[in-house]
Amino acid sequence: MRIFSGIQPTGRKHLGNYIGAIRGYLEGQERGDPAIYCIVDLHATSVSYDPTTLPGYVLDTAAMLMAAGLDPDRCILFRQSDLHEHSELCWLLSSVAPYGDLQRMTQFKDKAEREQELVRTSLFLYPVLQAADILLYKADEVPVGDDQRQHLELAREIARRFNSTYAEVFVEPEAVIPGTGARIMDLQNPDAKMSTTGSTEAGLVYIDDEPEAIVKKVKRAQTDSGTEIVRAPDKQGITNLIDIYAVARGVSSEEVEREFAGQGYGAFKEAVGEATAQLLAPVRERYRELRADEAAIEGALQQGADRAREIAVPSMAEVHAVMGLGARR
Ligand code: TRP
Repeated sequence: MRIFSGIQPTGRKHLGNYIGAIRGYLEGQERGDPAIYCIVDLHATSVSYDPTTLPGYVLDTAAMLMAAGLDPDRCILFRQSDLHEHSELCWLLSSVAPYGDLQRMTQFKDKAEREQELVRTSLFLYPVLQAADILLYKADEVPVGDDQRQHLELAREIARRFNSTYAEVFVEPEAVIPGTGARIMDLQNPDAKMSTTGSTEAGLVYIDDEPEAIVKKVKRAQTDSGTEIVRAPDKQGITNLIDIYAVARGVSSEEVEREFAGQGYGAFKEAVGEATAQLLAPVRERYRELRADEAAIEGALQQGADRAREIAVPSMAEVHAVMGLGARR
């Protein structure tokens, strides 16, 4: 079972990333043969960004993943731009990527709308680069958030078209999307997903937030005017806190409802804050240690890139051969 996923090098990761994606990566590390995790700095250049801060963000992300439990000896953890094969395959796959499909990508439309100056062509090609990431490693499974469904469907379509146009080279990847409960909402605006770009400071719990800051943010979380600690469509704030507590304590949401039946919101929020701080404290401490040693992080990423190349280089040779590129065979 080959597993592949990509993660954006946004500087700080939050509770939503941890519960929604990073825990899935850890589980994948156990099952993957191998599990391959790529920090997608090339994707980061598809919107306005600062070239002087990007390299540090990549290291932040690598350190965070390792702090959470990814072991560079047991999985392949690497930086996308260390392998030119990703960029190259993006171009080659664009020969079978339907232009109309790309125009229908909702993330392209959303991000294009938010862009102040320039809508970059790379933003339009973003899903093709993502397909290249996945197909290059012939991944069977791709753990991703719910918002990546459409991109994964496109990757499958590109694999099918490539295989029928040229030759059977690629595997059609399966998206693995975590169930509800894995979807953590903004503390201040609980009908929106907790997100680096969309949430305010108060709505976000960063993995490296101080425990006191976490408790404070959870205490101030937006809830409803009711009193009952139950999950309900009109109680999104409380529902979110129940889900967070369930994950932090490793219990079901029903058990949380039972545990807090009859208690007030104040006591419940206090308990959720403490549990969240406890969940993240070890990760935060390991992160501090790991992040201080940049040479060690670089070393791990270089080792990851070498191992990624062992898979990517032969894939590219196959692609060249069936597409009729390079010297005549
Ligand atoms: N687009 C993904 C996201 O924003 C990141 C990503 C890039 C990715 N390449 C990938 C995810 C390949 C899975 C597989 O989350």
